[in-house]
Amino acid sequence: MAKKLFDYIIHGGDYNPDQWIRTPEIWDEDMRLMKLAHINSATVGVFSWATLEPEEGVYNFEWLDTVLDKMHQNGMSAILATPSGARPAWLAEKYPEVLRTDENGIRRKFGDRHNHCLTSPVYREKVRGINRMLAERYKNHPALKMWHISNEYSGECRCELCREAFRKWLREYYHNDIDELNFKWWNAFWSHSFNSFDQINPPEKNGEDSASALNLAWQRFITDSHISFFENEIAPLREITPDIPVTTNFMRRYNGIDYQKFAEHVDLVSWDNYPAWDKGKNPDEAIEAAFLHDFFRSLKNGQPFFLMESTPSLVNWQDVNKLPKSGINELASIQAVAHGADSVQYFQWRKSRGGDEKFQGAVIDHCGHENTRVFRNVAKIGKTLEGLSGVVGTESNSRVAVIYDWENGWAVNFFRGYNNIRRDYVKECIKWYAPFYKRGISVDVISMQDDFSKYDAVIAPFLYMLKDGTEERIEEYVRNGGSFVATYLTGVVDTDDLCKLGGLPAGRLKEVFGIWCEETDALPEDIPGKAEYNGKTYEVNHICDIIHTKGAKILGEYKSDFYAGMPCVTENAFGKGKAYYAAFRNDKDFADDFCQMLISAESIASDANIICGEDVFLRKRGDNVFVMNFADDEREIIFDKEYINAVTGETVCGRTTLPVCGHLVISCAE
Ligand code: GLA
Ligand code: ZN
Repeated sequence: MAKKLFDYIIHGGDYNPDQWIRTPEIWDEDMRLMKLAHINSATVGVFSWATLEPEEGVYNFEWLDTVLDKMHQNGMSAILATPSGARPAWLAEKYPEVLRTDENGIRRKFGDRHNHCLTSPVYREKVRGINRMLAERYKNHPALKMWHISNEYSGECRCELCREAFRKWLREYYHNDIDELNFKWWNAFWSHSFNSFDQINPPEKNGEDSASALNLAWQRFITDSHISFFENEIAPLREITPDIPVTTNFMRRYNGIDYQKFAEHVDLVSWDNYPAWDKGKNPDEAIEAAFLHDFFRSLKNGQPFFLMESTPSLVNWQDVNKLPKSGINELASIQAVAHGADSVQYFQWRKSRGGDEKFQGAVIDHCGHENTRVFRNVAKIGKTLEGLSGVVGTESNSRVAVIYDWENGWAVNFFRGYNNIRRDYVKECIKWYAPFYKRGISVDVISMQDDFSKYDAVIAPFLYMLKDGTEERIEEYVRNGGSFVATYLTGVVDTDDLCKLGGLPAGRLKEVFGIWCEETDALPEDIPGKAEYNGKTYEVNHICDIIHTKGAKILGEYKSDFYAGMPCVTENAFGKGKAYYAAFRNDKDFADDFCQMLISAESIASDANIICGEDVFLRKRGDNVFVMNFADDEREIIFDKEYINAVTGETVCGRTTLPVCGHLVISCAE
């Protein structure tokens, strides 16, 4: 699939003209307003099934014909959705098997959305059918540029069909050998051995809910079910519109589907970003958003992605939905582009009059006109994006990677032991990402199966699971000159969640890191321990490994408890590289101080030599450097040389002041 689908940044969002079918004059007004707002695309039909097929086999596509024609006449491209995210009442009534069943065997009634069984052959057939109709009808429509498959795939079903599908999946995964499964799940424990795959059920409260290997298998099965559901959806589209790319919108911090696996099946990654701006923590929100952008960008090896949804104003699902100040949504949009987005899209274009989301922010409010703060902000973003079309298709070049591995995240959540309440895997990864981001250093966020060799440093927070081959790849990476940083509880279990034997970190990693770990301690929240690194004292929070060196240099020592005087930070020269072990968790400055040392030791330069104040973030994409002020105050920026403002073409040099939410995109092309 070509990297560059458009020559300009897509600016648009979810558009639901079917909600306004009684007042088609609104569609014309939409076109007028979209042009005014510098909107060039709209995502149509996400939840339109009941309008497209009001009764079984009775179709009504005329409204969509009209809307797509209008969009084309007005220069707008269409991202056309398949409607499987919500089904019509007639479908649920006639084929109840399409609805989800909970773990008590209770089938849900019609309602809500994303309420479908992933296995149901009827639902799969119906979805294929409506998707085929859409593809046949619009295959030559000039507005059609991309398929948006369903919406935010998520959730699970425990109907009999899904239970059977799970057993089938297990049979394949464990080579139809129940003894292999019994061994890998360690089922001699509590007499859990099965005689046959038919005896196995999904994890559930009134059955088995504490077996981490079962939980892990179930999550893998759910991921594969979503992938096969998705493949079923796109089959007619691939056949009829082979040149139109497909995507599905991934979610911010959704845990239920392994996106690192799913991403192989989409042409382009897209995701929905909803940070909680203006709750007093904008810099932290910005760092988390940056981490997630880099995660989604890294899913397809750095290829540009789409920001499929963001709010143009506020959301409706937090406890308190504060209006963000003017400027922050624009800055967030620019940040997405800085990290590799080739689109800025909103949920939603026009606020619905009724239903659950009638107070979710939209470009056009119930007032219906353009004389609003939100509209003006959106139009301004659109204009700015038009000036940035040069970045489309360009990529970043990172010398550092943080491993945030999806399956490891599941395994970390599922085990019982040590500290059961403070695992915070994502937060831990963000903690080790932030020091680089704050210093203007691009970071890729990768899985443990990605290639390490292109990075000078790889940081692997809490890499509890080591999938087959990872141990060897870490060894090879360090031997060949890489710097690898691991933290507490590294390499404890294998792909199947069985504990590795022979001492930690697993296998050869004891040689690579030059340490071995004898015990792991957990600390209550209010009784932290103490450690010293580089002359500074740090709290030991929640969890730490008690380690012995086997050749590694000691960089820090514990200062409390019975392990006072034992090493807590080590560095081991191995082959041409270095392996560092940070054995304790600290929730304040330690990761930042440690990474500063690493950055100096590895001479990792920031993306540009521009001095910015605190909470101003720098990100290079292609030949452009984005400077973004997420602080609550204006900040002075000092340039090391002359640059060109990529949007205005003006020269920038010396000192300048960036206002609150201010941003600047400068070209570094020689
Ligand atoms: C999600 C969904 C949208 C909408 C928004 C509201 O991202 O995909 O349909 O519900 O949330 O914030
Ligand atoms: Zn089901």
